[in-house]
Amino acid sequence: MNVDNRIEEVVTACCGTGSARQKEIFASFIRHLYGFVADICPTDDEWMETIQYLTSVGQKCDDKRQEFILLSDVLGVTALKDDLNNLKSEDATETSVLGPFYREGVKTFPLGSSISNGKEDGERCLVKGRVTDTNGKPIAGALVDVWQAAVNGLYEQQDESQPDMNLRGCFETDEEGYYFLETVKPKYYPIPKDGPVGTLLDKLGRHNYRPAHIHFIVSSEGFEPVVTQYFDKQSKYIDSDSVFGVKPSLLIDFESVKEKGEYSSVVLSKGDWTATCNFVLASVKV
Ligand code: BEZ
Ligand code: FE
Repeated sequence: MNVDNRIEEVVTACCGTGSARQKEIFASFIRHLYGFVADICPTDDEWMETIQYLTSVGQKCDDKRQEFILLSDVLGVTALKDDLNNLKSEDATETSVLGPFYREGVKTFPLGSSISNGKEDGERCLVKGRVTDTNGKPIAGALVDVWQAAVNGLYEQQDESQPDMNLRGCFETDEEGYYFLETVKPKYYPIPKDGPVGTLLDKLGRHNYRPAHIHFIVSSEGFEPVVTQYFDKQSKYIDSDSVFGVKPSLLIDFESVKEKGEYSSVVLSKGDWTATCNFVLASVKV
């Protein structure tokens, strides 16, 4: 039996039933997996080490921790999947990785509300922007779902000192497509390293930090939702994001407030920050 015959035998065994898409996926998976194994020609010990590593990734997963997503993220596979899907709506805001810390069911707040618990360490920051379609027309009533880590580098579900749903909120754009909210200026932070993904990063001589960013999911009926992040251009690790989420179009300046002033209902003091995060949504293709 030669290697080529074996591939065809397995592809035939795996692709006899199911949808055309399922057959396409399995045939490609088998061919690439065979290519990989034939390329590296693993010893028995190396193969067992691989199996044990994947087993440990699975064992680290529970309802709060998804180590396989983290593995996909640090290998850049999630970013590749996003890049390929981005090609479908070229004029829309580029996407970035969702990450494992998104939570559904966040409260919708009136425009200008703060998503910080008020006792937060960190510098106050006004985040504002506009949601438009690909022709520049404002989208009223779009939902802007925002979340970020606290300045201690932890999301609320990782940290008992933060109230439930801290630094998360949903906002609805006004008639002109504008939204604004108060938060704290984000800081770079480490992704979890106490599991098999951390072991892998150490082995590869890589760090586990992400540059300062704010996450968004922006949606409106009739438009493709955008899952993305805006990054502080000046942040440490901006050129070496451990999950490859940074894209030039998602870099923004956080601007320091020079003197006391107002933005609609939000009073700004000297030393606060402002960040403008605009979004362009593409229509759903029919
Ligand atoms: C995040 O930005 O929340 C994140 C993304 C990927 C892996 C870990 C964290
Ligand atoms: Fe994050």
